[in-house]
Amino acid sequence: MKKLLASIAIILTALVACKQNQKQAARTFDGPAYLNAELPIDERVEDALSRMTTEEKVAILHAQSKFSSAGVPRLGIPELWHTDGPHGIRPEVLWDEWDQAGWTNDSCTAFPALINLAATWDRDLSRLYGRSIGEEARYREKDILLGPGINMGRTPLNGRTFEYMGEDPYLAGKLVVPYVQGVQSQNVAACVKHFAVNNQETRRTETNSIVDDRTLYEIYLPAFKAAVVEGGAWAIMGSYNLWNGTYNCHNDRLLNQILKGEWGFDGVVISDWGGCRDDDEAITGGLDIEMGTWTDGLRSAASNGYDLYHLANPYLERLRDGRASEDILNDKARRVLRTIFRTSMSPVQNFGSFTSPEHFAAARKIAAEGIVLLKNDGILPLRVSEGGKIVVVGENAYKMMVVGGGSSNLKTKYEIIPIDALKEAFAGKAEVIWERGYVGDVTTDYNRVVTGQKLEDPRSPAKLIADAVAAAKDADVVIFIGGLNKSEGQDNEGTDRKDILLPYGQEKVIEALAEANPRLVVVNISGSPVAMPWEGKARAIVQGWYGGSESGHALADVLTGAVNPSGKLPFTIPYSLADGPLKTERQYPGILEKGSDKWQEYYDEGIFIGYRWYDTKGIKPQYAFGHGLSYTDFTYSGAALDKSTMTEDGTIHVSVNVSNSGIYDGAEVVQLYISDPECSVERPAKELKGFEKVFIKVGETTTVGFDIKAEDLSYFDAAAHKWVAEKGEFKVLIGSASDDIRATLSFRLQ
Ligand code: BGC
Repeated sequence: MKKLLASIAIILTALVACKQNQKQAARTFDGPAYLNAELPIDERVEDALSRMTTEEKVAILHAQSKFSSAGVPRLGIPELWHTDGPHGIRPEVLWDEWDQAGWTNDSCTAFPALINLAATWDRDLSRLYGRSIGEEARYREKDILLGPGINMGRTPLNGRTFEYMGEDPYLAGKLVVPYVQGVQSQNVAACVKHFAVNNQETRRTETNSIVDDRTLYEIYLPAFKAAVVEGGAWAIMGSYNLWNGTYNCHNDRLLNQILKGEWGFDGVVISDWGGCRDDDEAITGGLDIEMGTWTDGLRSAASNGYDLYHLANPYLERLRDGRASEDILNDKARRVLRTIFRTSMSPVQNFGSFTSPEHFAAARKIAAEGIVLLKNDGILPLRVSEGGKIVVVGENAYKMMVVGGGSSNLKTKYEIIPIDALKEAFAGKAEVIWERGYVGDVTTDYNRVVTGQKLEDPRSPAKLIADAVAAAKDADVVIFIGGLNKSEGQDNEGTDRKDILLPYGQEKVIEALAEANPRLVVVNISGSPVAMPWEGKARAIVQGWYGGSESGHALADVLTGAVNPSGKLPFTIPYSLADGPLKTERQYPGILEKGSDKWQEYYDEGIFIGYRWYDTKGIKPQYAFGHGLSYTDFTYSGAALDKSTMTEDGTIHVSVNVSNSGIYDGAEVVQLYISDPECSVERPAKELKGFEKVFIKVGETTTVGFDIKAEDLSYFDAAAHKWVAEKGEFKVLIGSASDDIRATLSFRLQ
C-alpha cells in the first residue's frame, strides 16, 4: 500500500511539474508568435502575414508541383501537400507529371467508393471512413485530402456518380459532415468537391450550367453548406464547369457571396486541376490556391512554369501596377496560412497510420453495410448442402476494380476479388467454379498502376456463353457477377455513360443462364444506376459497388448471410433513361448556341431530379430511392406525433416502433419524408428529412424518434432570397423506402 501511494505521489508530482513546464514554456517562448503553438491560430496567422513580402504571399497561392503548393521557406513555414482522395491516398506522382513516381511504399488501403458509403445510410460509418482515410493521409504527410465529392445525381449517366453520395441533398449532407470531421480529426483538411452544379463529365470544362436560385439552394448547395457550416470543412474545390456564365473556380457569386459570405467559410478555396481560366477573375472571384493549370509554361518556360499561373506573375504584375488590391491578397494569404496552421503546423500532432488491420476492417465493414439487396425470393442467403456446387459467372467476379476511374485511381496493398472470397467462404463445404461468360474490359492498368491480372480471352461471345451454361446446368446455385467497371465510358472520370443498360452483351449471358438453371442470383457491381430489364429472370438481385481492398469479402459476407444486408439505394434505378427528368439536349448534355463557345446546359427540370421527379410525376422506377431489403422482416407500428400543430420556431417530435419480426438479426434504415400538399409553389411529392439506421435483434422492438423543424418544411423563395415554411398542413411519411411508406401522419404549421 505504501509503495502504491508513493508511486501515485511520484506520478502526480511529475504531472504537476510537466504542466508547470508547459505554462512556463508558453510564457517564456521567445520565438516569433507564429511558431508559438500555444497561441490561437488567427494570432499566428496575423503574425506570419506581417512578416511576409508580397512575393511570398503570392507564392503560396499556386502550385509548385503537381500536388503541392508552396510555403514560406524563409520563415520555416512548410508547403501544403495535396492528395486525391476520396477513396484512398493516391500513389505518389512525379513532381511535374501525372505519371507514377514509382515508389514502392505507397500502396494504400482502398476504401469503398463514396456511393457505397452513401448506401450505408450510416453516419457512424461515415465518421469511421473519414477518420481512417485521414489517418492514411496524415501518415503519408498529406495536408489536404481532395474529397469527398458530393455533387448531386442529376443524370444516371454521369461518369463520376460512383465518387459522389447520391441524388438527395439531405442524405449527402448528413453523411458528409462526419466524413469531414473524421478526416480533419487527423489535422488533414477535407477538400469538399466539386463546387458546384458539376453534374456531368461530358465537356466538363466547357459547359455552362444554367440553374435558377431555387434549384441551386434546394438541390445543389445544401450538402456543401452542411459540409461547411456543420462539418467545418477547411477546404473547398471549385468545379471545372461554369455556372450562369462564370467559371466556378473563380465564380464571385458562388465563392465570395455564398460560400464565404452567407456561410462564413474561413477555409481555403482550391481550383480543380486546370480549372482556373482567367487572370482577373482568379484574383477577384474567390479563388485562394490555383492548382494544375495547364500552362504552356510547364513545358517551355525557361525558369519556373508555375510562375506563369494566373495567381503567380500575372497577379504580381497587377499588384505592382495597382490594378490589384493588397486587401484581397491578404485575405487569400490568410486563408492559406490558416490551412497550414490547421494541418502541418497544428499544435496537435498526429502521425496517422497506413494499411493497418483496423483500416482494412473498416473498409470491409463499410463495403458490406452498403451492399443493397434489391430482390430476393428466399434464395439468399446462400444455403448449399455439403459437397454442393456453386457456379459463379461474370467478369466482375474476377476483375480488380480499385485501379481505374480517373483521379480516384488507387494503388492498394491488396484487393480481394469476389471469386476468391467465395471460394474462401465455402472452402471444404462446396465447390466454387468460375466461368467468364463475357469479355468486357481487358485493361489492367491505369496511369501506370498495374493489377497484374491477365484478362484477355480468345473465346468468341457464343463460346463464352456456351461454356458458362454448361457449367451452370447442374449447379446448386448460379451467381452472375457483372455490371460496369472503371474504364472509359463506364464509371469513370472524364466521360459519361451512353446508356443505362448493362454493357458487353451481359444481358444475353443472364438470359442464357436463367434458361439453363433457374436458381440464379445476379450481382450488379457498379457505381451508378443500371436498368435491369432481365429482373424477372433472377431470383435475387444484389447491388454491389466498388468496395475497395475488401470488396470480395464484403460481397461474400452478404451472400452467405454472415452480414445481413442493410444498404439502401442512394439513387433511383429507373426502367429506362426516357423515364427520367432530362428530356432534351438543352438539359443534357447541353447545346452550342450561336455566338458562344460554351455549351449551354439548361436545368429546366428545376428541383425535380431523382425520386423528386419520379414520385411527383407518378412514374414508377424499377427500384426506388431508399429501397433495400434484408434477410429479416421489419414491422412498423405506433407511429405518432407529440402534437398536432407546430409553430414556426418550434419542433414536432415523431416516434415510431420498429420490430424485427423475421428470423435474422439485422439493421433497418427508418426513413422520414415530408410532404407539403397545399403550397403556393410546386413542390416535390415528398422529400427526405430524416433517417436513422437501427440494429434490431430478432423479436426485439426499437423506438426511433425524429424532430421536425421549420427548416424541414421550407422551400427556397428566390425572389425574397429566403427559406419559407408556409402555414397549413404537412404530412409526415415514415417508411422503409421512398416507395414503401408504412405510416402517414399529419400536422399543421401555425
Ligand atoms: C479532378 C479532381 C481531382 C484533381 C486532382 C481533377 O481532374 O476533377 O477531382 O481531385 O483532378 O487529381
